[in-house]
Amino acid sequence: MNLVIFGPPGAGKGTQSKFIVNKYNLYQLSTGELLRKEIINKTPLGSEISSTMNSGKLVSDKIASDLIEKFISNNEYKNRLIFDGYPRNEIQAENLNKLLSKYNQKINLVLKLSVSLDIIKKRIIGRCVCSICGKIYNEFFNPAPVNSDCCASRFLQKRSDDTLDISISRYQTYEKNIKPVVDYYNESKLLKVVNGEKQINEITNEISGLIEGIKGWLCVITQYNYAGNLNS
Ligand code: AP5
Ligand code: MG
Repeated sequence: MNLVIFGPPGAGKGTQSKFIVNKYNLYQLSTGELLRKEIINKTPLGSEISSTMNSGKLVSDKIASDLIEKFISNNEYKNRLIFDGYPRNEIQAENLNKLLSKYNQKINLVLKLSVSLDIIKKRIIGRCVCSICGKIYNEFFNPAPVNSDCCASRFLQKRSDDTLDISISRYQTYEKNIKPVVDYYNESKLLKVVNGEKQINEITNEISGLIEGIKGWLCVITQYNYAGNLNS
């Protein structure tokens, strides 16, 4: 089972992906996290993309495509991927389909988290991430536990693109590019829109229900194919 989760900055893609990954033994492929690692590790790619990311714009489609192909082509992740933040435009949506077909896979479910700009601003300004375990917190909505060794305040970090100005720019980039992606997945009947303004656990429950529905279908199809093979 491969999933796509998309939505504006701060919609909760990373938060929900981490729950889904644990519950269903999937692998979270966050293009944003992979790109940030390049910057932290001071690689040539990192220095190429850092100003683009800090302006709230998208890095090139080629860079993003090369990153995801490494995972799609790896058998360890076959049919276990959750694409967090890919695709972000029409070219990427078409490219994802091509890459998955090339490695004999497909998308089973696409989740769109809807959240208004007002809420997004507070989520982005309040976000902090544990540099040890990667857990995502929020000063306003979801503070880190006080007596935790791992997620102690000295380990909590802010992202350099989490300023008010850059968050608005990221939101505008999202709005400018996303309509064809929504249309693309609507036409293929894979799209489920989830209200991303609810409580974190309510959203997780809703997403789990959608995944269970898909898993049920996948099971029926597999049994049908198996029976077909036996009879033929
Ligand atoms: P990326 O890192 O993906 O950033 P983004 O899309 O802006 O999304 P965020 O990570 O900010 O938000 P999220 O939806 O994951 O929210 P989270 O769960 O953390 O990409 C960064 C950059 O990389 C892009 O701008 C671009 O430059 C580049 N890039 C990435 N992919 C690319 C691609 N495919 N092509 C080209 N360029 C690409 O939650 C946010 C906060 O809200 C947290 O504090 C959390 O605790 C809180 N929260 C979450 N859910 C709730 C809730 N239900 N209620 C209350 N609080 C909540
Ligand atoms: Mg994220």
